Amino acid sequence: MQRVVEKITPEQRELWARHTVKMRHRLPEMPLFSDDSLAELIETVPAERMIMHTMEDDLSTWKSVERGGVPGHRVLEAIRAGRIWINMVGIQDYDPRFAELMEQIFADWARDVPEFRTFKRKIGLLISSPNAKVFYHCDPGGQALWQVRGRKRIRLYPPTDPFLKPAELENVIRSVTGEEITYHAWYDDHAEVYELEPGDGLHWALNGPHRIDNHNELNVSLTSEHYTPQIRRSWAMNYGNGVLRSLGWTPRSRACEGAAFWAKVGITAVWRKTMQEKQSYKRVPEFVPDPQAPNGVRPIEPAAAIT
Ligand SMILES: [Fe+2]
Repeated sequence: MQRVVEKITPEQRELWARHTVKMRHRLPEMPLFSDDSLAELIETVPAERMIMHTMEDDLSTWKSVERGGVPGHRVLEAIRAGRIWINMVGIQDYDPRFAELMEQIFADWARDVPEFRTFKRKIGLLISSPNAKVFYHCDPGGQALWQVRGRKRIRLYPPTDPFLKPAELENVIRSVTGEEITYHAWYDDHAEVYELEPGDGLHWALNGPHRIDNHNELNVSLTSEHYTPQIRRSWAMNYGNGVLRSLGWTPRSRACEGAAFWAKVGITAVWRKTMQEKQSYKRVPEFVPDPQAPNGVRPIEPAAAIT
């Protein structure tokens, strides 16, 4: 397969993983992202891997949606007419074409940034409505966003206090909450703003909070996630600190080496085995897609919700 990501320059290599790097890629040329292909994916990706939400203008309106047997093309129609956001998480596990695409992206990066060694790679396919929003949040792993169809504005904020509070990052990493974190409008004065067009890609600093506004057109994007040895250590430190905080301690160190760090790795392993399932955040669908309904969704009827 030929390259899908254009060459990372020496300057970008110096910025890599610590600052934002904007790239170009060839995903928009691929038939994988046509309407017919998307409709088929909507019908074939397992429900537990297809996260759907609807939203209006603030976080309280962010509600979970399920496909509920609605055909793929009709779901696309609802996305075009309404306010829906779909994320097909880990789609490389279900479709070999996405597995190959993911391998190619990481191979292109590894060729240009040889010190960048990744594992636990994952990609997600995003299909979202004109003017859809994703509210302020941060994600646990290394990440990039690849714009395929339509345009969107992304604001990226520094991955440090006050934009990202350690206790909130710990909760995101432990999946105790969704990915939402404290946001104030004045944070925008400190954001980097990018307008993403088809063929643009963005990779930014670990855990960097962000929020996204689609322009007035259907959007198709890909997200990629990865871990490196350093990201894994940071993850374990945050997880361990979160467990300590939940037990009433205030963690004093965010170091990713030394005895205290390795104790946190141990705590993390034990806690994940015994407690994580009980404390994890769960989504409860409240809507199904419907192109004729406001925002392209209608409430699940109570009788249907019980089954
Ligand atoms: Fe995100």
